[in-house]
This record gives sequence, C-alpha cells and structure tokens, in this order.
Amino acid sequence: MPSRLSSLLDLQSIPRTQIESLFSFAESLKKNPRPVRNRGESVILAFFEASTRTRLSFETACVRSGVGPVLFDGGLKTSLEKGETVEDSLLNMAAMRPSALIVRCSDSLDLPQLALQLKVPVINAGWGVRAHPTQALLDVFTLKSKWSSLEGKKLLILGDVKHSRVAHSHVELASHFGIKLGQCGPEGFISENPIFQTFQKLEDGLQWADAVVALRFQFERHDSTLRFSKEDFRNLYGLSVKSLRALKSESWVMHPGPINHGIEMETEVLQDPRCC
Ligand code: CP
Repeated sequence: MPSRLSSLLDLQSIPRTQIESLFSFAESLKKNPRPVRNRGESVILAFFEASTRTRLSFETACVRSGVGPVLFDGGLKTSLEKGETVEDSLLNMAAMRPSALIVRCSDSLDLPQLALQLKVPVINAGWGVRAHPTQALLDVFTLKSKWSSLEGKKLLILGDVKHSRVAHSHVELASHFGIKLGQCGPEGFISENPIFQTFQKLEDGLQWADAVVALRFQFERHDSTLRFSKEDFRNLYGLSVKSLRALKSESWVMHPGPINHGIEMETEVLQDPRCC
C-alpha cells in the first residue's frame, strides 16, 4: 500500500517516488485483486460536470476495495437547484466524514483553496481545462506496462492541446519520468509551453512518436475565434487507417475518451492492434 496521499490535485507537487509507489500498488492490484471487505468506509464522488469513464472507474474501484461509493451527481435533484453553491455543497459532504472526496468541477472553483478547508483528502477527477491527473496517470501506467523504461520515450499529443486538462497533466507527469512530449494540431490549439516539440504535419509527428494520444475535439471550450471545421480537422489531424501508416509498428495509440468518431479518430482505428 502506498503511503497515504493527503490530496491529489495535480502531478507537479507529488514526488516521483510517490507516483512510482502508486504505480506499484496499481500493478499489484491488477495481478492480485484484493477480496472485498466491508470496512464501513465511504468515499463521496462529487461530480459537477458530465462524466462516464472517470466516474464509473472510481465507483468500480470503490466497490472492488470494499469502500461504499456515495454519488453526488450535480445535475438534477440536488440543492444546487435551490441555489446552493458548489463550495457549500462540498463543505457539507466533507462534514459527513468520507475517507475522500473525488471531485469533477469547472475551472471557476478554486480547488486547492477549497481542499484546505475540506479537511478530507480530495482527488481531482477532472478540473475544467486545468488538470486531469488520474487520466494522465492511467495513460502512463498503461504505457509503462508496454515499455521497459519511460525515460526518453516520445509521446505525441494530438489536437486540442491548449484546452485539454489531460494534456496539462501529461506535461506535469512527463517531467517526472523524462518523457519527451510532442504536439500537433491547428494553431489555436497549440500549447505555448516550450516542453513540447511542435509538428506542423501529422505525418512528421507520427513518425517521431513512440505513442500518440489523440484528444477529443472540445467544442464546448471554443469561442468564435477558435472555430476550426470538423472536416479540416479530420483531414489534417485525424487518426485514420491511412494516416497511421506513418506510425511505427511498435508504437501505441491512445485516446482518453469520449471519442468524437470520425473527427479526431476514425472508428476503424479502434481495431488497430497498436491501440491500447
Ligand atoms: N476520460 C474522461 O475523463 O472521460 P469522462 O469525461 O467520461 O470521465
């Protein structure tokens, strides 16, 4: 069991040793799932934005480890409808003394500041465009199982890097393990962070990469200055059976989901043996 994290809000403030310890623990659970024990503990999943994968992954993890998942779906039938704030909702939940709060929320919430007040560990399950540490951890955990070492491996992030919380968490995680990052996408989607090697042409990026993460085209985060047609995106940056000919046979393809089929990725690509 890794030493207890107080909270997991980002990946830059966590030492590499602790991340390695999390990976080792995940590996041991994968090989040998623990029997369920009812310890009377609960974890509250506070989801103020839509989710399928992250929410159900956390719920499944709770069930498998014998911890009761308590779900707050910030959509309908909660006191948010009556005008209660997200901050007050979380303070109420923390007062119920769960073992942790797993929070998906928008950028407007000051999550680090709130985590100090909550006095229970907070796990960031997707915070606006800022960070999605558990998705990046899962991506790198998956790639780690494919490679003997992460050091010097080249990860190409494709598409809407600037508005992607997953990409931002990859930047933080890459620096711990010496992973080289590349990016490829339309001008308005490209990060200004110098950590990225930028490729104008998809083919050049794919030839360079040991793994490629194709990001979701995030319509909801674009204003009118960033309109880029789906057709242009698909033609220039979409992963297709044809474009993937440039990727090495031993490289890997990933997507955090949800996929816009036929935009950042053709559905047929999911059958490619390099998808993991
Ligand atoms: N990958 C991911 O964050 O998916 P959800 O939005 O469905 O949780």
